[in-house]
Amino acid sequence: MVRENQLSSTDLIWPLFIIDGQGEEEPIGSLPGVSRWSVDGIVTRAREARDLGIPCVALFPNTPPEKRSDDGAEALNPNNLMCRATKAIKDALGDDMGVLTDVALDPYTSHGQDGLLDDLGYVTNDRTLEVLTKQALNQANAGADVIAPSDMMDGRVSAIRNVLELAHHHNVQIMAYAAKYASAFYGPFRDAVGSGGRLTGDKKTYQMDPANSDEAIREIAFDIAEGADSIMVKPGLAYLDIIYRAKSEFNIPVFAYQVSGEYALVKAGAAAGVGDHDALMMEKLIAFKRAGCSGILTYFAADAARLLRK
Ligand code: PBG
Repeated sequence: MVRENQLSSTDLIWPLFIIDGQGEEEPIGSLPGVSRWSVDGIVTRAREARDLGIPCVALFPNTPPEKRSDDGAEALNPNNLMCRATKAIKDALGDDMGVLTDVALDPYTSHGQDGLLDDLGYVTNDRTLEVLTKQALNQANAGADVIAPSDMMDGRVSAIRNVLELAHHHNVQIMAYAAKYASAFYGPFRDAVGSGGRLTGDKKTYQMDPANSDEAIREIAFDIAEGADSIMVKPGLAYLDIIYRAKSEFNIPVFAYQVSGEYALVKAGAAAGVGDHDALMMEKLIAFKRAGCSGILTYFAADAARLLRK
């Protein structure tokens, strides 16, 4: 009767990993219970999400090695895995399922960085923006409902918004990964999309320092001013203070990404007898609501929604 916050399946966004082929499922070793699926399997997962009351899925491709290149050109291919999966979900489910697509080059580059490198190996902001806007347009043309730039280049939200407007994609939303930290919790994700083994160096020249919070507020302010419809904080649980500040200072929809390493820690903890799996999962998820989130991207989405049904 006096509970202040509720978790509902409508708060959840389910990240899914795509591979080539037909009828394929590849379990991901570092993410117990999560698999890569070929496009047909992705559609099945999207139906499952719809039946559980989950409003949106987030798509990530594991691009075959021969299609990765220094410039990540596969990101612009209208028949790449992302576009095929997006179209297939929209054809099957229409407005019953939202599709969120990630804008960044790391699943497509041979070096695993989110942008284009200069001669010294430094990720160049403005040249990268040109590719990212084309990537966003490619995804919107395939039917994406929400474009989520995760690259952390400066100026990308306004650049993407302009390109979408010119192409009459007025109703496509932008959810900006506004405060994204250079985190040690992304390891299993990099396995999942196949960028981890390739990555040279780190992403500290464009992702944020975990010691900073005022900088997060400045990053969020830029993205809102540039036209973001909602913003994201990533990772989640270690950054609840950022979520709380973002919600209090901007009063805009704030989403958390409970990232791969956070998920894997719950799985490992439960397996090691730290506590009950479902109780650990639900306590972490309600913390995001308490901190002020409108929703959560989480690999637990289907499991949590199933539990909420009971
Ligand atoms: C790519 C991207 C990453 C994640 C989402 N988009 C990894 C990274 O920045 O290296 C991480 C998600 C997760 O760990 O679950 N730009």
